[in-house]
Order: sequence, then structure tokens, then C-alpha cells
Amino acid sequence: MCSTQFIPYLDIYLQDKIQILSRIIWHYDSSGVQAKNYFGSLYEPILYAVNNPNCYTFNAEAIKVEAKTGAKRKLIDYRQPTPTVYNSKKVPGNVWYFPRVRYRMAKYEDHPTQKPEALLERIILASSNVGDTILDPFAGTFTTSAVAQKLSRKSIGIEIEEDYIKIGLRRLGIMTHYQGELLQPPQKSYKKPEHKTGQLKLF
Ligand SMILES: C[S@@+](CC[C@H](N)C(=O)[O-])C[C@H]1O[C@@H](n2cnc3c(N)ncnc32)[C@H](O)[C@@H]1O
Repeated sequence: MCSTQFIPYLDIYLQDKIQILSRIIWHYDSSGVQAKNYFGSLYEPILYAVNNPNCYTFNAEAIKVEAKTGAKRKLIDYRQPTPTVYNSKKVPGNVWYFPRVRYRMAKYEDHPTQKPEALLERIILASSNVGDTILDPFAGTFTTSAVAQKLSRKSIGIEIEEDYIKIGLRRLGIMTHYQGELLQPPQKSYKKPEHKTGQLKLF
């Protein structure tokens, strides 16, 4: 995944090198301050591309979502040779909604662009099988590797910032300490410090 501004150039660059099968929009909500003089961004683009369009992994069954239309209302599809109830599951389209990771969420890590696990889950389930190896050359908080681990895939994550590598080492359960430092999840400022029970403060 790349930054929104860079994607059109990458798209053109890749067009005669690999086959782009889908241009996906990851759409999210934003409770943060929004732009006042232009239309603020509420999405990130994803290019879904393959080396060989005649031979690639796409696990449609693993990522199907509820089809909210006819099936829910038990409508009959009369366009079929034999009228049948509409499918209740379908492969998602190319606009995906997943909420962003927020400070108060349990999975939050101290990184400005941490991706939600649900987003990576869909990508990894669709494009790989158990035991495959997944490469994320811009690993950040190592969400890709964390999801790969959960889904029994192997992964290689590359990250330039030492602080984020420390997050990855902890998140993936590889190390509890790094050069003598205890690796801990972010300490949230809204959480009250724990008080020892049974202590009475007298004024
Ligand atoms: C958009 S973030 C990735 C976020 C990640 N998907 C997550 O869920 O946390 C991109 C990351 O790439 C790292 N990065 C930038 N340039 C790099 C480079 N040349 N080599 C390795 N990592 C790099 C940045 O430090 C940043 O953490």
C-alpha cells in the first residue's frame, strides 16, 4: 500500500510490467479535524495486481461478505433458467469500508498510519494460502506479519525505524526485551494509574 498521492504514478509505471486486476478504495471514517478549504481525504488506494493473469491465487470463498440485496429479502432471481433465491454471499466489490485504528482501541500502536487488521486479513486471505510467505517492505507496526501469523502464513517485514521494529518484535512475540529495554504496549494517557487496593488515604 502506498500514499494516496503516489499511487497514480505507480499505477502508470506498473501497467506494462504486471497486470492490474483491481483498483481498490479503502474507505474509512474520520472523527479528526477535516479540511475546511478543500475536500478532505477519507480513503487510501490499493492496487491489486498479479504477475500472470492466467495463474494466480484468489480465494473467493474465504473473503465473501453478506450480499445485502435480494438474499436478505429472500427475493427470487427470475433471470436464471430455474428461478432461484439470490446468493446470500458475494465477493466484495472494489470499495472497502474498514474503520481506522484509533487510540482507544486495544490493538492501537504508536504509529501514524497503522492499518486495521481486518483490511490485511481480507488481502492475505484472498491472495495467499496457508504456509505461503508474505512480504511487506514497509512494515510499520508489522500489521501484515501479525495477521499472517494469525492466518498460519509466514512473513517477511522490512522497516527502517528502530522504534517500529521494536513494536514488531513485541507484537509478533519474537522478543520481550530489546537491548535491555522491556518492550511494552503503548501506555495510554487516558487510563488511570492503578491504585493498590486496601490502602486508605487519610487527610
Ligand atoms: C505506511 S507505513 C506502514 C504501516 C503498516 N502497514 C502498519 O500497519 O503499521 C510505512 C512504513 O514504512 C517505513 N519506511 C519508509 N521508508 C522505508 C525504507 N526505505 N525501508 C524500510 N521501511 C521504510 C516507515 O518508517 C513506515 O513505518
